[in-house]
Amino acid sequence: MSERRRTAVLVSGRGSNLHALIEATSRPGAAATIAVVLSNRADAFALERARAARIPTRIVDERDHATRDAFERDLDDALQGADIELVCLAGFMRILSADFVERWRDRVLNVHPSLLPALRGLDTHRRALDAGVRFHGCSVHFVRPALDAGPIIVQGVVPVHQDDTPETLAARVLAVEHRCYPLALELVASGRARVEQERVVIDGATVPETVLISPLALR
Ligand code: GRF
Repeated sequence: MSERRRTAVLVSGRGSNLHALIEATSRPGAAATIAVVLSNRADAFALERARAARIPTRIVDERDHATRDAFERDLDDALQGADIELVCLAGFMRILSADFVERWRDRVLNVHPSLLPALRGLDTHRRALDAGVRFHGCSVHFVRPALDAGPIIVQGVVPVHQDDTPETLAARVLAVEHRCYPLALELVASGRARVEQERVVIDGATVPETVLISPLALR
């Protein structure tokens, strides 16, 4: 594929996933290019990362709009204006309306810090610890109108340690997000991942043989 798919990243905060996406799409042969970074917060650190990479930025703040419709119209205009084909939500703290999501169906990706469909919503690391699960992780999925729902493209799994806090667990998951999100974007942008009957089919995917059991053994 010669033309790179023009991708927008939508952010609200620190932008570590944005950083991972910028790094990955800067490599020769990448199927996507980050053409614009949109933030609903002017003070998001993610914007500094975009500027450092010389990527155009736009602020579209819902608080400057009278209605959600008006906000999303602006968002849409910004995306259309930049000729965007794919959208990556990366710590974007706004829920998009069903209308918006349907208009961009199968073109909006999100990263969520849990192994979906478990633990939708916020505070996933604390909830994973409370539930006593042995494994946790992240999911990159196509966005659907329901919160944290939609066909899963890539998942990454981490073990939960007995002495984990929500912070130590979050850090372990975040490191895996930074590997999964660029992979998912590459699969979608290159056309290797497609949605069939609400599941993602990936051409030529190899999957790990490994079975993970935790805890491993008693000492
Ligand atoms: C990540 O944990 C992501 O899973 C969640 O929001 C966080 C964003 O982090 N949706 P960052 O802004 O990419 O550093």
